[in-house]
Amino acid sequence: MYQVTRMFNALLAAGLFPAVLAAPAPQMDYGENSGPVGGVDSPTPTVTASSGSLYGDESLLGEVAKPSPVSGGDSAFVSDYPLVNGQEADSDLGLYLDFNSVENPQPLRGVGGQTDPGPRTYEYEKLNPDVYAPPGTDSGSVSQLQWPLGLSHNRFGTGDKPGWARQQNTDQLPVATEMAGVDMRLAPHAYRELHWHTASEWSLMLKGCVRLAAVNENGETFIDDICAGDVWFFPAGVPHSIQALDEGCEFLLVFDDGSFSEDGTSLISELFIRNPKSVLSKNLQTPVSAFDNLPSDELYIFNGTPAPANISAQNMTGPAGILPYDQSYTYHWSQQEAYQTPGGSVKIIDTTTFPIATDFAAALVTVQPGAMREMHWHLNSDEWNYFLQGSARITVFEAPEASRTFDYTAGDVGYIPATDAHYIENTGTEDVIFLEVLQQAKFTDISVAQWLALTPKQVVKDTLGLPDETLDNLPKQKTYIKPGNKNMTALASNPNGTAAYEPSG
Ligand SMILES: *[C@@H]1O[C@H](CO)[C@@H](O)[C@H](O)[C@H]1NC(C)=O
Ligand SMILES: *[C@@H]1O[C@H](CO)[C@@H](O)[C@H](O)[C@H]1NC(C)=O
Ligand SMILES: *[C@@H]1O[C@H](CO)[C@@H](O)[C@H](O)[C@H]1NC(C)=O
Ligand SMILES: *[C@@H]1O[C@H](CO)[C@@H](O)[C@H](O)[C@H]1NC(C)=O
Repeated sequence: MYQVTRMFNALLAAGLFPAVLAAPAPQMDYGENSGPVGGVDSPTPTVTASSGSLYGDESLLGEVAKPSPVSGGDSAFVSDYPLVNGQEADSDLGLYLDFNSVENPQPLRGVGGQTDPGPRTYEYEKLNPDVYAPPGTDSGSVSQLQWPLGLSHNRFGTGDKPGWARQQNTDQLPVATEMAGVDMRLAPHAYRELHWHTASEWSLMLKGCVRLAAVNENGETFIDDICAGDVWFFPAGVPHSIQALDEGCEFLLVFDDGSFSEDGTSLISELFIRNPKSVLSKNLQTPVSAFDNLPSDELYIFNGTPAPANISAQNMTGPAGILPYDQSYTYHWSQQEAYQTPGGSVKIIDTTTFPIATDFAAALVTVQPGAMREMHWHLNSDEWNYFLQGSARITVFEAPEASRTFDYTAGDVGYIPATDAHYIENTGTEDVIFLEVLQQAKFTDISVAQWLALTPKQVVKDTLGLPDETLDNLPKQKTYIKPGNKNMTALASNPNGTAAYEPSG
């Protein structure tokens, strides 16, 4: 107790604790984590060692014990906390609250909520303001739909810094049954071992370049080099290898099975280790001594010999020849120009141009500060999201009457069940870039604005009471993105205004 108190006082003297924590002496000494200042100490209650016993005795039972001091104890009292812009505005406006502008944010919005005396870790709350102080329009129960890959276990490869992989599947997000994701890093020249698996694999290159090689059921071969922004697809069961080129690489894998585990793939090393050597000898028609140098354990991710720069040197073909171009396992998506629209840009890949990936459709979306991917839903498929840059929030509406808002930053996974309406709003000061992946042959969505624009006006008026002017201005074409004001709290000064989408003053 003494030590904790001394530490607390030292930090206080150094001006490292917000004043609010300083004022009244807490009843119990919890060590609130003060974020960037306080490191990662978790709030551990102090154990009093001097009693000499692990337990109290019966004299502490209620009605027997001497009364606790119910007044004068003020540890639940929080004072002198500054509010952020927009925090006092009507909670139904749901303004984005930037908790980074204060040291100890509080879960208050409009007239809702109450202060938080702790224990707490400020960094979570600053990253997730819409979870900590939800918009007044959030309601009911929606499953967890956000997972930071930074919280996933990182599996290291074999040997000297060859790379790593971390994943999200139904263990992390139980509702994400249709798709699972992996973030994988390979050092220069490192391999993801020759392997195959039960699910089909769609991949987006995030950084660097790789050489891919595969053989299909007809003995047709495929080899290609791809780089950041490009895509590959391997159908379930097709064996393949992945080797990083000179600069190493990082890529994202999406599997068409939410319970798929990257740790459960079939590896060539294990296939050889787990079969009788007499059978290996017979199978490859070679002496048993050929297997003297088999790895003793799986390799998974491991360092390799640099691939020859000229890919033709590794072009293996048999009588069946190479994979026909219309079945190519790669698409050089980085070279596709994005469709520009006010507020950002979009590009789409699906079987229209990448026919081998029969059940994958994806959009790479860039949304400028203040703008948002418009309110929409997908007809037949869940949506798997990955945030490549920036920060954003999503409100997911789930019939009949639930909605919940989640915050995302670079490296986070999002998941949105089919037909759940949602938007993706940039909440930061840089462009937000994210991927939408669907289990569909074609990328499709229903735009809320377009639906209303193309519905008889009287029907919409009678239902939502929207003014004629609003309805007359709805664009009849899908715009994908809606521009907005970079000042996310501008509406606070005029809740009846246009400041959500028109910059004020
Ligand atoms: C591989 O060889 C085949 C002919 O056998 C050729 O058609 C193909 O273009 C080559 N591919 C590469 C990447 O060199
Ligand atoms: C790559 O190798 C192939 C065959 O091995 C050769 O025909 C071609 O000229 C080489 N290309 C370069 C750029 O060296
Ligand atoms: C955003 O708008 C609010 C309300 O009008 C105002 O108080 C605030 O200063 C603005 N912020 C910036 C960065 O302009
Ligand atoms: C909001 O604006 C409308 C239309 O300009 C006006 O009729 C109404 O009185 C305004 N309400 C408030 C609270 O300012």
